[in-house]
Amino acid sequence: MEGKDSSEEAVAAIEACYQGFNPAAYLQYNYTPPRADFQRSDSIVPWKLSCLHKAFSEGEMPLIIYAQRNDIDIPASWIREETAGWVKCALIKKNPTAWTEKAERLRSVVTDVLPINVHQPCPLPAGSIPSSGADCLVSSFCLESVSPDLPSFTRALGHLSGLLRSGGHLLLIGALGESFYLGAPGLQIPVVPLDEAQVCSSLRTSGYQLLQLSVYHLPPDMRVGVDDVSGVFFAKARKP
Ligand SMILES: C[S@@+](CC[C@H](N)C(=O)[O-])C[C@H]1O[C@@H](n2cnc3c(N)ncnc32)[C@H](O)[C@@H]1O
Repeated sequence: MEGKDSSEEAVAAIEACYQGFNPAAYLQYNYTPPRADFQRSDSIVPWKLSCLHKAFSEGEMPLIIYAQRNDIDIPASWIREETAGWVKCALIKKNPTAWTEKAERLRSVVTDVLPINVHQPCPLPAGSIPSSGADCLVSSFCLESVSPDLPSFTRALGHLSGLLRSGGHLLLIGALGESFYLGAPGLQIPVVPLDEAQVCSSLRTSGYQLLQLSVYHLPPDMRVGVDDVSGVFFAKARKP
């Protein structure tokens, strides 16, 4: 019982950090060059997008849930066309001529933006996805960034599994070897440092069948002082 209380306290301490999370600053730190340099194939964001592109080209994975919480207004306002924001920047850089068409397509396929809390056994509001479960979930740099330790990360993976249908896929992107990142100027948010073996064993412990694990190692010039990440993993897993 004592263990559970201290784990809940550790989760609550991280939740308190997110009161100061500044999405605009975070996007500036992580979604501008050198980390989002579309002229370079060894830049983090192009690597991440190419993993997602490949995964979605390979299989039937039509439904995406955006795993964001207090920064939820950024994708929601972009979809309502109130802000241009970073989605436009990414689309322009990727394809300067066809970005408006892509933006329209993206807007037309996103049906909702929902709040999520991965520490809750039912992370999404009741009734927000079909009762049979989602076909596919994408989670990017969330679970390790909100978990104080490995058991908490593994539990969060289990909570996400409850949202998937049997045979559905989880596409999980996350940081390796990271102990903190800047969530706003001067705000260091603690992160559970993970290695590849821990990611694989947490997925298996949570009942997933691991289909693929790819790893990106940070080139020295991507270490720009906004975190101490050493690499990024991309996992494709299936709920049996
Ligand atoms: C490191 S940022 C990742 C942002 C973005 N998904 C990306 O790929 O860059 C961590 C995100 O976790 C979200 N978050 C904080 N607490 C959460 C929770 N309990 N459940 C789910 N997401 C949470 C924050 O709002 C923030 O957007």
